[in-house]
Parts: sequence; C-alpha cells; structure tokens
Amino acid sequence: MAVLVTGGAGFIGSHTVVELMNGGYDVVVVDNLINSSSKSLDRVQEITGKPVKFYKADILDAAALDKIFEENEIDSVIHFAGLKAVGESVQKPWEYYNNNITGSLVLFDVMKKHGVKNIIFSSSATVYGTPAEIPVTEKCPKGEITNPYGQTKSMLEQMLTDIQKADPEWNVILLRYFNPIGAHKSGKIGENPNGIPNNLMPYVTQVAVGKLKCLGVFGDDYDTPDGTGVRDYIHVVDLAIGHVKSIEKLKENPGLKIYNLGTGTGYSVLDIVKNFEAATGVNVPYEIKPRRAGDIATNYADASLAKEELGWVAERGIKEMCEDAWRWQSNNPNGFEE
Ligand code: NAD
Ligand code: UFG
Repeated sequence: MAVLVTGGAGFIGSHTVVELMNGGYDVVVVDNLINSSSKSLDRVQEITGKPVKFYKADILDAAALDKIFEENEIDSVIHFAGLKAVGESVQKPWEYYNNNITGSLVLFDVMKKHGVKNIIFSSSATVYGTPAEIPVTEKCPKGEITNPYGQTKSMLEQMLTDIQKADPEWNVILLRYFNPIGAHKSGKIGENPNGIPNNLMPYVTQVAVGKLKCLGVFGDDYDTPDGTGVRDYIHVVDLAIGHVKSIEKLKENPGLKIYNLGTGTGYSVLDIVKNFEAATGVNVPYEIKPRRAGDIATNYADASLAKEELGWVAERGIKEMCEDAWRWQSNNPNGFEE
C-alpha cells in the first residue's frame, strides 16, 4: 500500500517524501510543479537511493487523479498541494480559492470514489489569527484571518471536519504548522522560493549568499523582548517526521485529530539574525522597516498534544536549522536551477 503525497515536489513535501521512503513506505507523488521543480525529486532519489514514483498533474484534474488511484494501491494521502503566498493571495483570491479549495474538493471526491478515507492535511498556525493565548494549544479558538490564503486553510479544515462527521470511516489529521525552516542535512533539497522571498529565513540566506543586499526587519516596536516579531521556527525535517508519525496514527483509526507542529520556543527576527551569523560565520546586514500589514507580535506553539498522541517532538534546535538552511543555500545559490 502506498501513500499519495500531493505537492510532494515542494519544500515540505520533498522532505516528507525522504522520511517516508526512509521509513519503508511506498510513496506516489503528484505535483503540477507550479511552485517547484522535479529536480527536487531527483535529489530525493540521490538521498534515499530509491526512485520516486512521480505524476506531473494538477489536483484540479479529476481524470488525472483517477488514473493515479487506479494505477496505485493508495491507502492514505498527505495533502500539501496548494498556493501559499499570503500577500499574493490578497491580490489573487480567485486563483487561491480555485486552486486550494476546488483542487482539494476534487481530490476528496476522487478519494471517496476509490474508498480511500485517510488524509493528513497541511494546515497552518495562521488559523489562530491573533492567538487568544500563548503558547497556542489546539483548544485555542480559530481567530480572525486576514488573507485568502489563511481562509483556504481554515475552510479546508472545516470541510474535512464535516466530511469525517458525515462518514466516520474517514480518518482526518489536521496538522497546524508553525514556521518551517532549515533543510535536509545533505544540502541537496531545501526551500526554493520564486522571486524575492516573502519569508524570513530564505530572505536571510539570500542576503548571506549575496543575492540580496540587506534584510528588512518588519517593525521593532512590537510588545516582545527586543521589539521584533516572535515566531516558532521548526526544522523542516522534524516537521516531515511529524507526518510519518501521523501516518502511523492513521492506522489506529483515530477519526478527527488536530495537532500543532512546533517546537514551543519563540525566536525574534533579531534572534534569527544573530543565531544565523553565529552558526555560519556570515554577516547579515539588516535595517529596521515599518511593520508588515497583517503580522502579529508573537506566535508559538504548545506542541504537547503531538508529543502525547503521536510520540513526536521537534528535536532539532535553532543552530541546526540555521546551519542546514545555509548549507542548502550556499551549495545551491540558484535553487534547483543549474
Ligand atoms: P511549496 O509551494 O514548496 O509546495 C507546494 C507544492 O504544491 C508545490 O510543489 C506546488 O507545485 C504544488 N501545487 C500547488 N498547486 C497544485 C495543484 N493544483 N496541483 C498539483 N500540485 C500543486 O510549499 P510548502 O512550503 O512545501 O508548503 C506545503 C503545504 O504546507 C502548503 O499547503 C502550505 O500552504 C502549507 N504550509 C506551509 C507553511 C510554510 O511556511 N512553508 C506553513 C504552514 C502551512
Ligand atoms: N520578517 C521580517 N523580514 C522579512 C520577512 C519576515 O522581518 O523579510 C518577519 C515577519 O515580520 C515576522 C517573522 O519575520 O515577524 C516571520 O515572518 P515569515 O513571513 O517568515 O512567517 P509568518 O509567521 O509571517 O508566516 C508563516 C507562513 C505562513 C503561515 C504562518 C503560520 O509564511 O504561510 O507562518 O504561522 F501561515
């Protein structure tokens, strides 16, 4: 039996495929490569020593998905495929709702048709809005979401919750990620954003490698120890292992489960700069800029439920996150482009 990984050529997907394959799982990847390169899967093969079964297809294409389910014995799905740029989603809500919502509905429908009722969904800490309490537990109510990207995460959580309620044979695990950074230890796969990065760590590594001049720090007047925004950065390999643990959990027929995947520790923007410089010996010039619209001061997880129920904890610290992000970026200054 195989695990279908949608969006498996992307950042978190490719790392998860490595951990699944290393764990002995058969994996099938579907990705339309809209935000990734199939070279990531060549690199996965280099890391694992095994070929990756890959379909270049869009999850909006029901016939293509149907064929994948016909040709493979799939018993569970990890659903990463989606568009994820917060700012872009404000400009292009049509694309975000169509791709993320319609695409997912097509996927759920094809799963139902083939009697596959086990799914792990990539959600986000963004569903908490401005969290009612820090550290954030899964009991924290969902908050006000300020962008269409975040809305798609919240809506898809609700849809899967309702599907599981309507047919209790479904097992649904909603994973709320905090801020994934870092890269595989080999330096062969990592985050490969298109254009100028929106997220902090890829911006830092691109300044460090000389592609960008200076990091803009978005606000130094937040109510945090140094005034800059605090987040829960989690190593992408720890996050990937969280998915393998969740696949194991599905075997217990758990019904609906929701888990935060974070470390429980918050770092400020300036903490990240300092830790990156200390871990790599490379200087990262920065300047303070105005706050970015929609940002919150502080967000970090209480991840104790994932520890209790999945037997999962994030093991890799900030030094390792910085070293590994830098190894990937410095070995591949242009990502997967030669
Ligand atoms: P990514 O863009 O690297 O990966 C997403 C993959 O999905 C890409 O390879 C893309 O080509 C593919 N894809 C998009 N639309 C598709 C479609 N219609 N059909 C087939 N493939 C499609 O992003 P990532 O950082 O690896 O994120 C993976 C998932 O985790 C996404 O759902 C994202 O929203 C979610 N997430 C990411 C973060 C983060 O900070 N990276 C945080 C919370 C949640
Ligand atoms: N930041 C800067 N300069 C930059 C980029 C970011 O100072 O160039 C700051 C932000 O203001 C924030 C912190 O660095 O304080 C982290 O910002 P990111 O953009 O890396 O991450 P966010 O926490 O804003 O958002 C991320 C993902 C979302 C996801 C969310 C979940 O991008 O998709 O985590 O918590 F929804």
